[in-house]
Parts: sequence; C-alpha cells; structure tokens
Amino acid sequence: MATAAVVAGTALPAAGADAPTSGSANASTVPFYGEHQAGVVTPEQSRMVFATYDVTAPDAAGLGALLEGWTAAAARMTTGKELDGPGGDFAPPPDTGEALDLPSSRLTVTVGFGPSLFDDRFGLASKRPGALVDLRAFPGDQLDPTRSGGDLCIQACADDPQVAFHAVHDLTRLALGSATVRYLQVGFGPTAAAGPKSPSPRNLLGFRDGTDNLVSTDTGSMDRFVWVDDRTDQPWMHGGTYLVARRIRIHLEEWDRSTLGEQERTIGRTKATGAPLGGQREYDPVDLGAMAADGTFVVPYDAHIRVAAADTNHGAAILRRGYSFADGVDPTSGELDAGLFFICFQKDPANQFVPVQQRLALQDALTRFVLHTGSGIFACPPGVSPGKSWGQGLL
Ligand code: HEM
Repeated sequence: MATAAVVAGTALPAAGADAPTSGSANASTVPFYGEHQAGVVTPEQSRMVFATYDVTAPDAAGLGALLEGWTAAAARMTTGKELDGPGGDFAPPPDTGEALDLPSSRLTVTVGFGPSLFDDRFGLASKRPGALVDLRAFPGDQLDPTRSGGDLCIQACADDPQVAFHAVHDLTRLALGSATVRYLQVGFGPTAAAGPKSPSPRNLLGFRDGTDNLVSTDTGSMDRFVWVDDRTDQPWMHGGTYLVARRIRIHLEEWDRSTLGEQERTIGRTKATGAPLGGQREYDPVDLGAMAADGTFVVPYDAHIRVAAADTNHGAAILRRGYSFADGVDPTSGELDAGLFFICFQKDPANQFVPVQQRLALQDALTRFVLHTGSGIFACPPGVSPGKSWGQGLL
C-alpha cells in the first residue's frame, strides 16, 4: 500500500504551539509517516533541493542521533510547522525562519544512505545491501567528485522553492558537528507527468518528459519495480527503494543549433505534441517495429526512447523523477551550465538503471548533446511511524 498519497487541502490543526506557521487555505500536506518514504511516488512537486552529506560524527551513536533529529525535524516541517527547541535571547532561534509564513506546499523530505556509509566508521559493513552497488563510470562520463557521492542524501521537494530550501537549510544546521554538506543541487521544472495521461511537463530540450514513465499511482508496478520486498538480503530495507541521481549537463547551444527534424529523431518523439514518431498524440503507443518507405525505422535505431525503453532492455523499468537545473555559466566555455538533474527510483539498480545507462552511453543519439557531471546512489530506507527514526532498523 502506498502511504505517501497527497492529501490536498488537509485541514490545519487548531492554532497553538503546534499550529502550522501559515494559515493559507492553499496549504496542502503530504503525509510524512507511512510504510514508504514520501517523495518517491508522490506526484512530483515543482521544485527540488537535493543535498548530500559526509558524516563527521565519530560513531554509530552520533549517526543515530543525527538521523533521529532529522526525522523529527522533517516530520514537523512537512506539516508546515516551525522547528521548536531551546531559544531565547542568547541562543540562535530554533528555526532558520525563511518558511515561517509559508504553507507546507506539499513538502516531502526523503533520506538515503550512500555506499560510503557502510565502510568501517560506523560498524555497518555487514548491513550493506547487495543492491547498493557502486556505480561504475559509464562511457563518456566526466564526473566531478565534488558533485558525486555522499554518505547521506536529502531530497526535499515542494511547490515553493523557499520551502524546499528551508528544509535542507534547517537539516544542514541540525547536522552541525555531525555531518557537512558535500554538494547541493537546486532543481525546477519537474519531468514527470502530474498523473496518468496528463500532458507531461517540458524539459530544457523543449520536449515533453515523463510520457512513458512508470505510473506512480499503479501500486502493482511500484511493488514490481520500485519498492524493496521481503526477498532483500537486508530486512531493514524492506519497503525502501534505491535512488540514483545523475547531474546531466545538456549542451544547449549545440542542441539549439540542430534542426527540428534532428531533434525529433534524437528523442523519437515530436516536439510540439510529444507524440511518438509515427503517432498523433502524446500517449499513442510507441511502435518500435514500424518501418518508413525508405526501409529505416520510423523511430530511429538510436532514438532515445528506443534505446531507453524497457522493451529493448529486457523489461528493465525505472521510476523517473528528475528536475531541470540552471547553474549559471561555464567559465571555461562561456556556455550555460544547465541540464537535467536526473533522479530515478528502483528496487535493483544493477538490473534497472545500470544496464539502461550503459546502453544509452553507447547507443543513444542524445549522448552527443549531454555530459554526465555528477553521480550518486543511495539506499532510501522504508518510511517511519510516529516515534521512530530513519535508519532505526539499520543502527
Ligand atoms: C539530459 C538527459 C535526458 C533527457 C533530456 C531525457 C529526455 C527524455 C525525453 C524527452 C523522453 C521522452 C518522453 C518520455 O517518455 O518521458 C525520455 C524518455 C525516457 N528516458 Fe530520458 N532523458 C535523459 C536521460 C535519461 C537517462 C539517464 C535515462 C536512464 C538511464 C533515461 C531514461 C528514459 C526512459 C526509460 C524513457 C522512456 C522510454 C520509453 O519507454 O519510451 N533518460 N527521456
């Protein structure tokens, strides 16, 4: 059962110490507690702040205290409440404050544990799931170590950029002395459709993105492809999932100079409607076998949607949930440093993301327009119930 459903217009608690810091009638809340973490099958919010952390706490007790503090803070923030705690005139305020007047804006906070957390620092080596593989470098990767890896990740998504940033800001403040930020990525423009058959949003290529994604409300396919089941080698991951993040820069200047026909053949869909080549409407079925009069495939052999499709990857499907990014100008080339912060969720990266990305790196026509500059993989534990903390089954 997916427990991270959105409750639009959730009634606000009565005013008082625990009242949300905004009385906006537009406040809507995604439940924090549940079998699974929120922020995976939750309909994609418009903004994201993603951060990874290196843990500096000296031992497992310190790591546990950090996760306990983070869980309690995330539970409060996702309901729009400000953080409480000791304050007064001679101490910093318990909440950084920039979201005080804002509604919860469907904030979700999702945590993940990177492979490096399972080294010898916290005695967790024997708890590392087999599915938490190290991502090898794929052909063409130019990964920046300062934008890759991390012991922990936090994905904060909300419909208000300030609410998403506030969550990461306050969690970073709470981590003082226990963890330091490794990198932070701000994202906008979701790349997953709002619902089955709704028009998909457009990415920075100008194409609709998310059409043939897994449908996150389809609990059967989420159980099959996303949520870790009881066959896991690490029972603490039952109900969790694996997050793969890739910072993919798009050479927009080169893309913008290519013809419409070339762009459409690169993706395998029409730009205006998102329909597959040979189809009329966005959700028309993709016919990968269709041949043109000249004997070539209607959806070219190297089109992104052919090379990425589950049908051509032994059924490997992933739940994509990425965001566009724009990080200014590359000082060496003068080009825009913008692209897609690709995020996907799955139960077994070695048999889902990895083989698909391996093929894309070698065969995808889109490869010439993109450069992977950051990478990370994280085990996202299951959701928690009130009084419990992230990672309790682990530590
Ligand atoms: C900058 C990088 C990327 C861009 C701009 C991009 C864009 C797109 C677009 C426009 C579509 C067609 C619409 C749709 O079905 O969603 C698509 C489909 C897809 N993409 Fe990507 N994508 C990128 C990277 C990736 C990566 C790294 C993967 C996985 C490793 C991936 C996996 C897929 C899959 C599975 C589909 C659906 C294919 C199908 O069954 O039709 N994409 N992408």
